[in-house]
Amino acid sequence: MPRNSWDRFNWSDVTPKAAFMNRRQIMASGLAAAGMSALAGPGGAQGVKKGSPYSTVAEPNTFEEITSYNNFYEFGWDKGDPKAHAGQLTTDPWSVEIDGLVDRPGSYPLEELLSHVTLEERIYRFRCVEAWSMVIPWVGFPLSQLLAYVGVQSSAKYVAFETLVRPEEMPGQRGRASIDWPYREGLRMDEAMNPLTIMATGLYGEDMPKQNGAPIRLIVPWKYGFKSAKSIVKISLTDKQPLNTWQQLQPSEYGFYANVNPTVDHPRWSQATERVIGAGLFGGRQETLMFNGYGEQVAALYSGMDLSKYY
Ligand code: MTE
Repeated sequence: MPRNSWDRFNWSDVTPKAAFMNRRQIMASGLAAAGMSALAGPGGAQGVKKGSPYSTVAEPNTFEEITSYNNFYEFGWDKGDPKAHAGQLTTDPWSVEIDGLVDRPGSYPLEELLSHVTLEERIYRFRCVEAWSMVIPWVGFPLSQLLAYVGVQSSAKYVAFETLVRPEEMPGQRGRASIDWPYREGLRMDEAMNPLTIMATGLYGEDMPKQNGAPIRLIVPWKYGFKSAKSIVKISLTDKQPLNTWQQLQPSEYGFYANVNPTVDHPRWSQATERVIGAGLFGGRQETLMFNGYGEQVAALYSGMDLSKYY
């Protein structure tokens, strides 16, 4: 039996028209309820380059698994809350403010940014600090392409990201304050420029489902998932290390770097192994890999650091 219903279609071969037909079949089969959005938008199948050397050969999780087990606290604390509540999020129009140490600061419509980058598929392992993992076929482009477009000044040392604050559409931002919104994240400049670091606008050849961070999010596959901020509205180039949301909330538990490291446990979770989402009741754990398996590409970034310590 195919591992997921998408196996019926060969995504490498579909033309936009064929993909549209497939989408209609899928809608008829009820998968549309899983949160799929229109094909023709920024992350749609059209023109997406496949076969990246950075993609893992591991088999992706199903669309259903990737879109129904989420952390997106703007929509609630349970894994099912984002899927249940994100439908009301308006993602079009969308613009990203880019400021700080850049040559061309400004508010950029998403379409403009996307017209200066090349979308490609990147099948990445995704490891949450809560010790679960998935494999996700993202659609996106290297963050370095966006930074080249706006022009990074030589004094910039970090990239800070801010995500959407819109309590009227995000129930988790209403009522009792738990997080000091917006959700914030940051990277060192060399991490941001690494070819593995992408801005994702879709998955499984479709626009990004809202619960996964539509219309544009960060993906940093060698770091714990909380670094991969969703629904980004602001990118700032700075010379100071930005404070990220989890570090601010719980500095004893979460660091700035947050590189996946099986030898350093979180106070509440061993990081030696991970629960593979969708792997069934038995045999569902696997060993966690240093840098989530991306050491060949990124270990050199941390050559001076003691990997037995937590950062
Ligand atoms: N981004 C925002 N804006 N809000 C969030 O709550 N959660 C983070 C990260 N990005 C989060 C976020 C965490 S803890 C994880 S594990 C991943 O998103 C989950 O991404 P996924 O739901 O697409 O698997």
